[in-house]
Amino acid sequence: PRTTPPSFLQMVRIVYRNPLELWGEPSYNEPVIHVRGGIGGPLLIANDPALVRHVLVDDARNFRMARVRQKILRPILRDGLLTAEGETWKRGRKAMAPVFTPRHIRGFAGPMLARAERFAAIYETRDGAFDMAHDMTQLTYEILAETLFSNEIAGDPDLFGDRVERLLETMGRVDPLDLLAAPDWLPRITRLRGRKALAFFRQIVRETMAMRRAKLDRGADVPEDFLTLLLKAEGPDGLTRDEVEDNIITFIGAGHETTARALGWTLYLLAHAPEERLRVEEEVDRVTAEVNDPYDWLDAMPYTRAAFEEALRLYPPAPSINREAIAGFEWNGETIAAGTQVLVMPWVLHRHRLYWDRPDAFVPERFWPENREAVGRFQYLPFGAGPRICIGASFALQEAVIALGVLMRRWRFDMAPGAPEPWPVQKLTTQPEGGLQMTASAR
Ligand code: HEM
Repeated sequence: PRTTPPSFLQMVRIVYRNPLELWGEPSYNEPVIHVRGGIGGPLLIANDPALVRHVLVDDARNFRMARVRQKILRPILRDGLLTAEGETWKRGRKAMAPVFTPRHIRGFAGPMLARAERFAAIYETRDGAFDMAHDMTQLTYEILAETLFSNEIAGDPDLFGDRVERLLETMGRVDPLDLLAAPDWLPRITRLRGRKALAFFRQIVRETMAMRRAKLDRGADVPEDFLTLLLKAEGPDGLTRDEVEDNIITFIGAGHETTARALGWTLYLLAHAPEERLRVEEEVDRVTAEVNDPYDWLDAMPYTRAAFEEALRLYPPAPSINREAIAGFEWNGETIAAGTQVLVMPWVLHRHRLYWDRPDAFVPERFWPENREAVGRFQYLPFGAGPRICIGASFALQEAVIALGVLMRRWRFDMAPGAPEPWPVQKLTTQPEGGLQMTASAR
């Protein structure tokens, strides 16, 4: 952490390059920090679990999505669940609840397993170091393409995959103009760059939707993937046609890079923790041999799950959950003005000295079933909390345990000799700068 506060220009530079570097020593020791006269108005950094609960749960209706996030993501995701607000969000969340029922998540376990197994075979031909961060993005993208569309994509699937990567890159870029709260009519280079990829991408999504809709209308057999489920959620009280499209784009935007980052960081942490890695390997060997249905792996592999959850603590893929106060409110005798930006920072909360013992150490046992009750609900927020909690959390946990099970029963992953220590950088997600240089050896 920093020991001296940055100047205004330094701050803009840091926020543009890597907002995570903004968090100085006091952030990790104090519960609430006010920044008055900050960029874009007053700022409240909420590292007090009681305040987090107030903002995300108890008084959630008084807090909208933060302006900066809306400016970056809304042009891309429009009325998708992540960026929708008010009544549109409420109707969308209700219409989509059936999409994420345990029965449907269970149905995805088979495709997740098949994709992960196919992916695990690539290490047979790998010689030397590779970038694990990139590999995990590829794996989770493949799993998403399968669970979203059953790979029935209009046109060339590789071209589509390529555009997805470009789109995510655009979503990860913060334009300095937005940080300086410049007016909206000023064109943003970052948005212009992504516009072509986005137009092409939306076109393919629309064609893919039309193909599937035609099949449904014909009464043909269709897979029960996200696309079918979303199309079924369309209707007068449900989603509009445009919202189905926005949500497909949202699932792609919110649903694969996040899990990819978490898997990459888990394998990185395990490569530095031989004893914990051995425990995961033993569990994975036993369970994958004895338990046939991959849906049951999540419960059958508590240690693997704990290692993943501990990686979500140390490297939360969504490092900040930002809100703006609609009306002013009182907190601990102080008046917080309407329009205050409130930052709930899993990145800081998860390493906060007031709430964690040995905050920087990798200790999966914290999430061992009998210990996890000791972890306060509002000090650990990888998926957020309250009405806007991640709708894909159980999908992500199931996917992670299946992917780790399949990869680790065959391969042992180590850091490549001389690989630089990865530096976490906040883009769309918490990414390792320079990637994760690793090697694979057959077990
Ligand atoms: C919301 C994290 C995986 C779809 C969120 C939020 C967080 C989060 C922190 C709350 C944002 C806020 O309150 O401002 C993660 C992490 C994941 C993950 C860490 C993986 C490890 C997924 C997956 C999907 C998904 C797999 C979809 C298939 C969404 C959507 C929302 C959301 C649609 C918006 C929910 C709403 O506002 O009602 N996610 N997510 N996420 N996530 Fe995830």
